[in-house]
Amino acid sequence: MKFLENKIVFITGGTSGIGKECALLAARHGAKVALADIKEDNQTAEALQQAGGESFFVQCDVSSPESVKNAVDQTIAQFGGLDVALNNAGIGGEAHHIQDVSVEGWRQVIDINLNGVFYCMKYQLAYFFDNKRPGAIINMSSVLGQVGFMGSSAYVAAKHGVLGLTKTAALEYGPQNIRVNAICPGFIETPMLTDAGLSPDNEIGKMIADKHAMKRLGKPEEIARLFVWLASDEASFVNGYAVDGGYLAQ
Ligand SMILES: NC(=O)c1ccc[n+]([C@@H]2O[C@H](COP(=O)([O-])OP(=O)(O)OC[C@H]3O[C@@H](n4cnc5c(N)ncnc54)[C@H](O)[C@@H]3O)[C@@H](O)[C@H]2O)c1
Repeated sequence: MKFLENKIVFITGGTSGIGKECALLAARHGAKVALADIKEDNQTAEALQQAGGESFFVQCDVSSPESVKNAVDQTIAQFGGLDVALNNAGIGGEAHHIQDVSVEGWRQVIDINLNGVFYCMKYQLAYFFDNKRPGAIINMSSVLGQVGFMGSSAYVAAKHGVLGLTKTAALEYGPQNIRVNAICPGFIETPMLTDAGLSPDNEIGKMIADKHAMKRLGKPEEIARLFVWLASDEASFVNGYAVDGGYLAQ
């Protein structure tokens, strides 16, 4: 069964890690996928095309409202509309206690991880609302959108903010049949973690894995399956929801 047949899907940060797996699975479920990323990369779009899906890459810096508007507009122009958005682009940021976090480092994380989600939602929601179209928006928060984590103040603050935005948008747009949900993954094996020196085989990776009820790190494809379901009509009465994979069951 294909959950996203002919749906037009816009994904930020769609060429790496969680976003890339979400794009691949959405394409396998019949979606047309626009990949918006700051990093020039046509390979993921080509892989989706070779698998028989329609896909294109658009360069986009989510910390710039003009860049986000351009990427959303290009998607609508290329595919003739928009049905689903995954606002997923994000960075980890500096690993310091608050007194040592640089102001630039703080601003960069808030600009990308929080303001970027706002810019995306602003233009996506305007399109759905003005065109009286149902839509599904999925924002990538984190378990760190619900609890603190030492050395990650800007990231934690941004991810909490994403949940606040998600809940407010769900209230504002639910009556128009526009659903807005957030995914709150535990720690997932992606370049974001490996770039920070964390792997399932090293000490820090094992310590983090141990914090999850499943006693392991998650895999991007496990998040992708949730994304595809949340984006689909199967989740037609799921709104304002945050899904975390059991991390917070402690
Ligand atoms: N990996 C985890 O453990 C984990 C856990 C919870 C939440 N998340 C969240 O999931 C999302 C994806 O993370 P990931 O682990 O796949 O990381 P990743 O580093 O593999 O992918 C992030 C993507 O975002 C893109 N990006 C970065 N800055 C951008 C910008 N300014 N504009 C547009 N694109 C930009 C990158 O180029 C990259 O393609 C992030 O929001 C992250 O915070 C990750």
